[in-house]
Amino acid sequence: MIDTNTQEKRQKLPMQGVPQPTREEVLKLPRVHISTHPVMAHKMTALRNKHTSSAEFYQLVKEVGALLAYEATAHLALEPWEIDTPLERTTGYRLAGGIGITPILRAGLGLAEGFREVIPDAQVWHLGLKRDERTLQAMEYYNQLPHKVDLQICYAVDPMLATGGSAIDAVNILKRKGIKRISYVGIIAAPYGLLKLSQAHPDIDIYIAVLDEKLNDYGYIVPGLGDAGDRQFGTF
Ligand code: PRP
Ligand code: URA
Repeated sequence: MIDTNTQEKRQKLPMQGVPQPTREEVLKLPRVHISTHPVMAHKMTALRNKHTSSAEFYQLVKEVGALLAYEATAHLALEPWEIDTPLERTTGYRLAGGIGITPILRAGLGLAEGFREVIPDAQVWHLGLKRDERTLQAMEYYNQLPHKVDLQICYAVDPMLATGGSAIDAVNILKRKGIKRISYVGIIAAPYGLLKLSQAHPDIDIYIAVLDEKLNDYGYIVPGLGDAGDRQFGTF
């Protein structure tokens, strides 16, 4: 597990002395949606548990992704769609326009899989961002965003919203592509990252499962769940 051992090896304490907002302060932010579902609280406890195996952890991330997808798609636009039932012609609905999911690699992969359980037709636009653990700045290393953009909405998905740097960069990249409607979906947010993302992009909705207490001096969310990428893929 990353926490103590890896952190002790690091020389720098990038968040030491940096003022952080409280949970109460960021709970007032508009466009922030925090799950209140009891099944989510149940799954979050298993995710946080350091004894949960990587296989179980990945499965839980997918399940939480599906629950978050259900919440984050509640306001999508529909268009009428005529079909034939076995008995007669009738008008139903289908989601208007394409839906995009942008997993922020690597940790966003499990979350994106959960999303696809709910919206199997969604396009998946992979975006690789890696946080430098000494400076906490995100660096882009992979980009598979298509040339043609025709979406109703794109969801940037990443389990951990810590300093907010990766999320802010991802939304900047999607906006530069011409995406008009973007939502961010994460599992755990720190008040610091939530505030930074809301300030940088006040026009997006932010869906999270839980709001944690703070970032520690190393920029990790506490109580958190550790490193979401390492825990999904067993790379400790
Ligand atoms: C983690 C996490 C986010 C980022 C959050 O990824 O999945 O992308 O850190 O931190 P921030 O809010 O301070 O930017 P990481 O860069 O460790 O890459 P990984 O997914 O490959 O593990
Ligand atoms: N990235 C993670 O995976 N976990 C954290 O707590 C912070 C950033």
